[in-house]
Amino acid sequence: MEQEAYEDNSLVLAAEDFELDEFERYHYFTTQDRRCIAKLRAHGPVLLKGARGCGKSALMIEASRGLYPRDNSSGAIGIYISLRHLGLLQSEGSKYIELFCNLVVSELYSQLDLQGGETDIDSVPELQQLITQIAVDNGKRIVLLFDDAAHIGREASLSDFFDVFRTLSNNLISCKASIYPGVTKFGVRFDVYNDATVVDVNRSETADDFPHLFQEILDRRFSESLRDEKFGRHLPKITVCKLLGMAVLGNMRSFIYSCNELITSLNGHEGVVSISHISRAFKQLSNNYFWPLLEEVEPKLGVYQPMVDPANQIAHILLEKAGEKGERSAIILREIGQRLNKPLEILEYVGFIARKEVSRAMKSRGRGTRYILNLCNLTEYLDQTRINSIITDKFLQFHEESVEFHRGSDLYKLELPEPLEGHDLDILDKPITILRKSNAYPYGLTEYMLSLLAGHNFDDLEALVNASDEDLLAIENIGPQILKRIRSTVNQAIWM
Ligand SMILES: Nc1ncnc2c1ncn2[C@@H]1O[C@H](COP(=O)(O)OP(=O)(O)OP(=O)(O)O)[C@@H](O)[C@H]1O
Ligand SMILES: [Mg+2]
Repeated sequence: MEQEAYEDNSLVLAAEDFELDEFERYHYFTTQDRRCIAKLRAHGPVLLKGARGCGKSALMIEASRGLYPRDNSSGAIGIYISLRHLGLLQSEGSKYIELFCNLVVSELYSQLDLQGGETDIDSVPELQQLITQIAVDNGKRIVLLFDDAAHIGREASLSDFFDVFRTLSNNLISCKASIYPGVTKFGVRFDVYNDATVVDVNRSETADDFPHLFQEILDRRFSESLRDEKFGRHLPKITVCKLLGMAVLGNMRSFIYSCNELITSLNGHEGVVSISHISRAFKQLSNNYFWPLLEEVEPKLGVYQPMVDPANQIAHILLEKAGEKGERSAIILREIGQRLNKPLEILEYVGFIARKEVSRAMKSRGRGTRYILNLCNLTEYLDQTRINSIITDKFLQFHEESVEFHRGSDLYKLELPEPLEGHDLDILDKPITILRKSNAYPYGLTEYMLSLLAGHNFDDLEALVNASDEDLLAIENIGPQILKRIRSTVNQAIWM
């Protein structure tokens, strides 16, 4: 296999792709995270809500690591279940329930190392009975951690999921699920705020341990290429970590990308990290990661696909005005925000903006929602299209004002298209060549790997994702390593 110029694991972009024994080494959790993890382990339903890559899976995996069987001494069983299964995305009603039950049963049996598991369970009451029996047999309550339960634009099966989520719970079974901010349809029988505790994974940049968290991650992942000597007195490591963390709105995956981009920007340079290295890294991230991401998610949004265009326009309007004033915070009049809700959620989902306050008084009268903007995207709109120490100091000390968008603004005039009712996911029909290593898929498939797959009738992603491990391993020169790479790239393409 070709050599990669990155540190080991620097490009593992999903927490579930770590081997369990490596997970601990690369992950660090703050006091706030610990509180969230405690809720995930405790009894009672919890929805873990946050943008792509903010660290939801990491929190769920960490929660399961403190429960039986991963921790023998725990009084509760914890089963982490990824719902990234194509069948679940494509089915509804009783078909969905049947697939869902099969998945839960097979995870329970394999994680608890139980015999059997071939039982024909295809309804929630039967499933509940089986899980309750396992709890009784083990003398422990059971926590089910459903990862990737809900995606924007894939709402068909959601009411089925939330129905199960609610009805499966009893005094021995509790359900937890990770969801995205844009997911608002929970089905008719699920009242989110009554039926579950919603935990927001939004990380507060004003929290004392915010810089420390990002320094820990940097030290764990990039101990060689961003070692202490790479940082000088004027721009100490902790400040760089805070700046990078703030720039990507506290998003874990984007932070890892930003470290990789900073390393590229240093490009073997002997001296220490400077503002211009960071500025260059931000612009690269903006062009090679964030803007392409907005395009990349389009075929994954189903009914909301037409909202990507207006999301793009909104981003430009916000960035232009904020950049001109040298600010990174924007208040949008509530009435405008409500109308543009979907595209704004998409921008939040891809990490362009983060919602900070729902109702804030505006100078121009009225109330609005305050968002902060991603600094990478903002950099190009700033004076001289770069960041300097004056502006970074202002941001680092939170000495900032917000630009405001009221009725006279361009946002007010923006028209929205209709959602495409009943539209399926375009991503599944894309050719497998989109998985080629690129800005969108830095951990993607090499030409060699694609050549191995060629001629095996994988016309589109759907065919590839449906191929079994055995099918793929039967292809000449595909071994476990390449199989893992194919799976993780396909997963990224469809789910991330
Ligand atoms: N607390 C943490 N410490 C160190 N690294 C972390 C932490 N949380 C997340 N990461 C890393 O950040 C990346 C994204 O995290 P994770 O996969 O948990 O995000 P996610 O919210 O589940 O994303 P998605 O929405 O795509 O499912 C992963 O590479 C993960 O290892
Ligand atoms: Mg995840």
